[in-house]
Order: sequence, then structure tokens, then C-alpha cells
Amino acid sequence: MAGNPAVGRAAVSAAVNPDRLWQRHLAIARIGATGRGGVNRQALTPGDAAARRQVLAWAAARGFAASVDAIGDLFVRRPGTDPAAAPVVSGSHLDTQPTGGNFDGIFGVLAALEVLEAAEEGHIATARPLELVIWTNEEGARFQPTTMGSAVFAGALPLDTALDTADGQGVTVRAALAETLAATPVASRRPFGFPIAAYVEAHIEQGPILEATGMTIGVVTGIQGLRWFRVEVTGEEAHAGTMPLARRRDALVAAIEMVHGLRELTADPTDTVRFTVGRFEVQPNSPNTVPGRVLFTVDLRHPDRQVLARLGDRVEAVCRAQARGCAVEVVETLSSPPTAFSGVVMDLIRAAADRHAMPHADIVSGATHDAKHLAGLCPTGMIFVPCERGVSHNETERAAPADLAAGARVLADVLVELANR
Ligand code: HGY
Ligand code: MN
Ligand code: MN
Repeated sequence: MAGNPAVGRAAVSAAVNPDRLWQRHLAIARIGATGRGGVNRQALTPGDAAARRQVLAWAAARGFAASVDAIGDLFVRRPGTDPAAAPVVSGSHLDTQPTGGNFDGIFGVLAALEVLEAAEEGHIATARPLELVIWTNEEGARFQPTTMGSAVFAGALPLDTALDTADGQGVTVRAALAETLAATPVASRRPFGFPIAAYVEAHIEQGPILEATGMTIGVVTGIQGLRWFRVEVTGEEAHAGTMPLARRRDALVAAIEMVHGLRELTADPTDTVRFTVGRFEVQPNSPNTVPGRVLFTVDLRHPDRQVLARLGDRVEAVCRAQARGCAVEVVETLSSPPTAFSGVVMDLIRAAADRHAMPHADIVSGATHDAKHLAGLCPTGMIFVPCERGVSHNETERAAPADLAAGARVLADVLVELANR
């Protein structure tokens, strides 16, 4: 077995290089940069492939072996002294929202890579292999649903269902993935659901709590529940100048009333419910034609399973009540109950933060993450660091270099500890 884990932990976290970590964020930020400080590097685009190639190049320079699974999840491995042992895995995603920031997901990938590099530089062997993972299509912006790659890996989404998913231009995951894999040649293949000893993901909080309370580290206790719906309203195109309102089947008017009804359904004086209509498409989208079709999405979240069930189960009825002569189709495209993380991993994160004299607090994640799917496979946890003003999914998203380094040091402690158990 490897050496004394306390020595290993200290050596690896001491070898974390804050400048290398920060410079790599800046390098990845240049791939898909929007020119407004943010990034548009959506899943399985050439930008996504370029970011993957950059991480693979850094890994290859260390001699770390890479592998990929059939949905494009990418793995980078630092061997352990026990090659038969299940690896400890850490990572996140490189794909972004259309007006995304440079830290959501990217920090988890680069922090995990930093730990593998620091273990090399610290000359620390671990019993278990350490693996970095880059999950495919975490954001679910181009291809729904969110956390697609980790869902397929964990058996929560059939591979063919994912591959047949198309984006707004009709491009399928299957076609876009083929292009991405061709652009990021990786020799060896990995099966879905291979044994993992533990999974730990570092991420910015994407909310205001850690910054507001002066905490450096968030010990994530779990992820709130999430339900996604796709609502399609079909009326009848008509001439804006001739068709009397009483005879119209106006899909836009109906859809607006549906959204009003859903806002009333989800009204919450405690401001705990998260209700969002992020996509709202009108067809034919012409100034002088009565809209015949509207497609809109519903993103509904809550930490309490019962509240999420009660509200989500009412979505369809509320929409149908406002049909106003239009046809209505409501499809639930994602149903993800609240997820609890491993107490063992949480304790290791708290102990590591204490060793580094970093103020820490327990926190529930408002955002969803790939760790949700790993929690059903192995002991899983997440480490949060603050982001400025709690802003994310926004081109002004920003995290401080010192906080990123702090998160990477805590991650190093936890991964080395887990890799020697
Ligand atoms: O939607 C989410 O919570 C994640 O950021 N994709
Ligand atoms: Mn993310
Ligand atoms: Mn995100």
C-alpha cells in the first residue's frame, strides 16, 4: 500500500500550484470566448472539442493515459500502486451555457487535473489510481437534458435515447459526438458504470451564500430536486389584420397565460421554489401573423421532495386550463429527486478545510451537477468555492484565484485520503 496518507495529503496539497491553475483557466477561457468576458462553448461543438484537446495535451505532457466512453465522457488516469483497485475519480464539465462563465464546470476539471499533477510533483504514490473525468454535456443547453453524459454512464439515461437527441437545428448527439471524438482522438474505450471507489467534484457555488458569509469552502450536503418540462402550444396561424380576436387560436396568448398560471402555482413567500421559463419560441415569429405555435420550457426546483412532487404534478393541469382553444402537449423531460451526499466524504472535506484553517460551512447545492448521478454509484461529495456576487450562467461569472487554489488544496487532501483507503 502507499505511504502515510497524512504525509501524502500534505505533500500533494502543498504541491498545488495556484498560478498554473489560474493560467489554465485563462487558457480554457480563450476557447469559445464571446468577447464580453464570457464563453459560448456548448456541448459537442468544435469549441468543446478544442477545450478537451487542451486538457488532453496537458495530461499527455505528464504521461497520464486517457480513455473515453461511448457517450464521450473523457477519463485521464494517474496509476496507483494497486492497479487492480477501483479508482478515485474527480472532475466536472467543460461545456458551457450560450452566455456562460469561465468557472462553471471548468474549475472542477482543472482542480482535478491540478491534483494529479501535484501528486506527480510531490512524488506521492497512492494505492488507488486517481482519475480526472470530463463529463459530456452537463449543461443541457444545446441538447437536453442536463447532466447527459453522467446520466448515461450511471444507467439513468439509455445511450440510444441520448444519441438520438437533436438540437434546435436538428443535429443529433450521435452526429455531434462523432465529430467531437474524431477531433479528440483517444485510443482506449471505457465501459459505462465501471467500479469507482469514490467521486469528489469541485465547483463554484453559483450562488451568493459562501461569499455573503465569508466562507472559503462549501461542504455540499446534497443537491436540490429538479424537474424539467417541455410545453408545446399549437393554435392556428391567421392574418393579424383580418382575423377577429374572438375567432383566433392564438398560441402566444395561451402560452403567456400558462406562464402566469405557473407563476401563481409556484409563488413562494420564503423564496425557496426555483421556477424558470428559460426557452420561449414563437412560430412563425412574424409581426403580422397570429402565432400558431409556441414552445416553452419549465425548470422547477426545490430541496423538499414532497413540495417538488406537489408542484410538478400540477404543471400540466395549469397549462391545459389556459389552452384557449389550442392543443397543449406537456412532456416531463427530467425528474431528479433531491440527492444526499456521503457523510464520510463530507467529514473528509470538513477535516481538510480545518487542516488548512479555511472557514467552511455545509450547503445544499441549488444547481445540479454530474455528482448527482455518481451518488448512486459510490461515496460522493462536492467541494464549493465562492463566486463573485453569486452570479453564474452569466458572462460576468468570476471566482478569485485564491479561492480556486483553496478548493484545489482541499480536493487534494480528500482525494489522497480516499485513494489510500
Ligand atoms: O442547471 C444546472 O443546475 C447546471 O448548472 N447545469
Ligand atoms: Mn456546472
Ligand atoms: Mn451550469
